[in-house]
Amino acid sequence: MTDSPYQNDRGNHDRSLTKPSGAASMTPSPHARQPMQTQSAYLIGDMMTGGYGNGPDILHDCTIAVNQGEIAVIVGPNGAGKSTAMKAVFGMLNMRQGAVRLDGEDITALSPQARVARGMGFVPQTGNIFTSMTVEENLEMGAFIRRDDIRATMEQVYALFPILRDKRHQAAGELSGGQRQQVAVGRALMTKPKVLMLDEPTAGVSPIVMDELFDRIIEVARTGIPILMVEQNARQALEIADRGYVLVQGRNAHTGTGKELLADPQVRRSFLGG
Ligand SMILES: Nc1ncnc2c1ncn2[C@@H]1O[C@H](COP(=O)(O)OP(=O)(O)OP(=O)(O)O)[C@@H](O)[C@H]1O
Ligand SMILES: [Mg+2]
Repeated sequence: MTDSPYQNDRGNHDRSLTKPSGAASMTPSPHARQPMQTQSAYLIGDMMTGGYGNGPDILHDCTIAVNQGEIAVIVGPNGAGKSTAMKAVFGMLNMRQGAVRLDGEDITALSPQARVARGMGFVPQTGNIFTSMTVEENLEMGAFIRRDDIRATMEQVYALFPILRDKRHQAAGELSGGQRQQVAVGRALMTKPKVLMLDEPTAGVSPIVMDELFDRIIEVARTGIPILMVEQNARQALEIADRGYVLVQGRNAHTGTGKELLADPQVRRSFLGG
């Protein structure tokens, strides 16, 4: 056994994450166009409208949010704007309208780096590790913003992802897809984030590795780090989601608890293969 805070009561069928209080604050109708009650959410991108540079708007009044103790999942077809919404929340997009709030504070004007300093960890969909650096160097890079001793956090990451300890002196680019994703998540954890944003953390991995990664993500959530993540494995992801968003063409198409969305005939037909 280990004393790592990430290592207690693993299992992605564990429903203890689902907070009854959180569910109670959600809009009952799974068809609701209006997002769930999110004003009090820990992290919220609220009614975001904007695009890249001077290009057309990609997001249209798009709202995504996560509460303390929750896993929030964003699903939707390719090109729906899921990554764009995550980038907007992280401050990588010039929003024309809308706001981003963290713990009640408006951070819309802050740079991504300033958001990291405020406690946001972000694992982007692509380019999320330094392939020519070792695993350990990647983790050290993750802690760039810290001035205190990072060893305890590194131990926690290694306890969460033991394979990374074994491979710590190996170039991250030599690792398997699932292991690379562990490096990416571990790197984000090195800042000791208060909220973790993951864009397709299980992209390109086998179903078994996907289950493993979901287990670890649940472990992280159980340590008190809320998680806002995009997933292409919609069904599996919604099963562990306290809060789910289906985005279509940059808009909120369906919002509800993971359970509600999984039970919604329209969502099933359009996004879950029936
Ligand atoms: N850097 C960029 N500059 C201009 N347009 C972009 C950029 N990145 C994405 N887009 C456009 O924004 C739209 C939404 O893309 P986005 O990557 O957010 O979708 P997604 O839902 O994450 O898709 P996927 O499931 O493939 O990851 C698409 O039309 C895409 O072409
Ligand atoms: Mg994407």
